[in-house]
Amino acid sequence: MRKPFVAGNWKMNTDTHASVDLSKRIAIGSSEVAGHSVTVAVCPPFTYLQSVIKALSASHIAVGAQDVYFESNGAFTGEISTSMLKDIGCTYVLCGHSERRHVIGETDELINKKAAAAIAGGLLPILCVGELLTERDAGQTEQVVSRQLKKGLSGLSAEKVSAVTIAYEPVWAIGTGRTATPQQVQEAHNFIRKQLAQMYDDMLAEETRILYGGSVKPANAENLMNQDDVDGLLVGGASLNADDFLAIIRAAI
Ligand code: 13P
Repeated sequence: MRKPFVAGNWKMNTDTHASVDLSKRIAIGSSEVAGHSVTVAVCPPFTYLQSVIKALSASHIAVGAQDVYFESNGAFTGEISTSMLKDIGCTYVLCGHSERRHVIGETDELINKKAAAAIAGGLLPILCVGELLTERDAGQTEQVVSRQLKKGLSGLSAEKVSAVTIAYEPVWAIGTGRTATPQQVQEAHNFIRKQLAQMYDDMLAEETRILYGGSVKPANAENLMNQDDVDGLLVGGASLNADDFLAIIRAAI
């Protein structure tokens, strides 16, 4: 019922040539499946969005931004609005990625404003949630994820939240090579789905795609995807290598 969804978060990597080359390789390698049996998206840095969108124009691969600002325009030096992202052909936007929460210092309140603005502007947000290692060790995983969900989606109706994909990315598994076990991932995803049912209704919870992110590689993708509540993968490092990303896409179907 929920179509698998694989998204690549390129973070602050690539350059003009590498971003176009990577896009073309992914488009060719996934042409039979992308958009049909699996949703595929890539999230390049802002500076390469347009060249990537152009390189992928004949494919079914969607393009997302890694961040957005909540104001529509005006004196916000350095920021990018939803209408700017729509204008160049973006479909998705990451909101509240752990690096924005923990390196840049974004709060749940700011992330909520960004997610709301993204939906209002016709973008599809991927709301990222996940606990720190200290929080997991202190038994606070559910409490943290619940807070991030409730605050991140605050004020948004079920209809609006139907545009949202959730990504569970435990901070301790990101870029560390330490993947959460399939069981840990299933537990967290099932908890997220139950939270969505409580906050909204069973239908929304059943229809919302919940992706896992954190050291996803071709070798662990299939095991993760085999979990009932894992609907896709948000891939960092491995999405920078076309062969690895394509292998992950295949594992997700
Ligand atoms: P890695 O796959 O490099 O661990 O990154 C995960 C991530 O943060 C995706 O958004």
